[in-house]
Amino acid sequence: MKEKINNILHEVENFSTESLEKLEEFRIEYLSKKGIIPSLFGDFKTVPAEQRKEMGSLLNELKNKAQDKLNDLKQKVSSASQQETNEDIDLSRPVDFREVGTRHPLSIVRRQILDIFSRIGYTVAEGPEIENDWHNFSALNFPEEHPARDMQDTFFISDDKTPSLEKVALRTHTSSVQVRVMENQKPPIRVVAPGRVFRNEAISARAHCIFHQVEGLYIDHNVSFADLKQTLFYFAREFFGEDTKVRFRPSYFPFTEPSAEMDISCNICGGSGCKICKYSGWVEILGCGMVDPNVLESCGIDSKEYTGLAFGMGIERITMLKYQIDDLRLFFENDIRFLKQFEGAF
Ligand code: PHE
Repeated sequence: MKEKINNILHEVENFSTESLEKLEEFRIEYLSKKGIIPSLFGDFKTVPAEQRKEMGSLLNELKNKAQDKLNDLKQKVSSASQQETNEDIDLSRPVDFREVGTRHPLSIVRRQILDIFSRIGYTVAEGPEIENDWHNFSALNFPEEHPARDMQDTFFISDDKTPSLEKVALRTHTSSVQVRVMENQKPPIRVVAPGRVFRNEAISARAHCIFHQVEGLYIDHNVSFADLKQTLFYFAREFFGEDTKVRFRPSYFPFTEPSAEMDISCNICGGSGCKICKYSGWVEILGCGMVDPNVLESCGIDSKEYTGLAFGMGIERITMLKYQIDDLRLFFENDIRFLKQFEGAF
């Protein structure tokens, strides 16, 4: 009998399972009324008196071990299954706080600009960031080898030996998108082209080799310089506030004639003079002009029938003016302390 008990003890000690059913089978086999252990207690009567003490304690040990094993496994199995089904979530526990992201200031301002132009009928056009010479330069009236191509230091992708008309580069402005629109659509055309542009410039508080533009193009019968001025005046007032004044200064771009740059009355000091406007009362915000007839013809639009206006602005510059940010590099550093200040803005 002693050997039998020891064998069973051994079985019990070695038993293990992860299933509740197997555990129940274990209970029935060893501990239920008709199970092995109670029946051993039944056999106890036949044990000779001198062995009873020893057998009694062995049997008790067996019973306790089996009971402990059962309890132990029951707990393990049920806690594993709870984890699986997540049945027992404690809703009163404090939550892990997740930070909600904020929109990037450039995205906020881009959306505002596009929204203002959409209200006067402009739709959004987009194009590739890697451009060929035609769309970035030639179609825009930059003659080959013309120094104006150096106005915007270009990141060329093609090597130096490639003839300039076959060169591929990172676009230096989104005017390239306007060319693509003119090639593919008949007037009337009214689009704004937002996007990333690239220029080989040293990075500083005022310049970066990557920045963002929104350029606009409107082509129809009888589009005039008055339309250009009124459109941009409308934009300036919508974006910077009703009291904003504008002024146009003559300028030069190969693709517009006449060309101009537009200043707004300084939105910080209201025109009385401050550090931002260098005490002039005015800050420059964009370039613009009437589309050069050569450009219209290059893109298959009859310049005798149609005229157009175009303008282009840097989103970084406009954002800096609007939010009084004095270092352009902040836009690219992803410093949460900077970005968090735009929380809630749309
Ligand atoms: N493409 C010019 C630039 O990148 C901006 C511009 C666009 C000027 C349209 C005039 C007309 O600087």
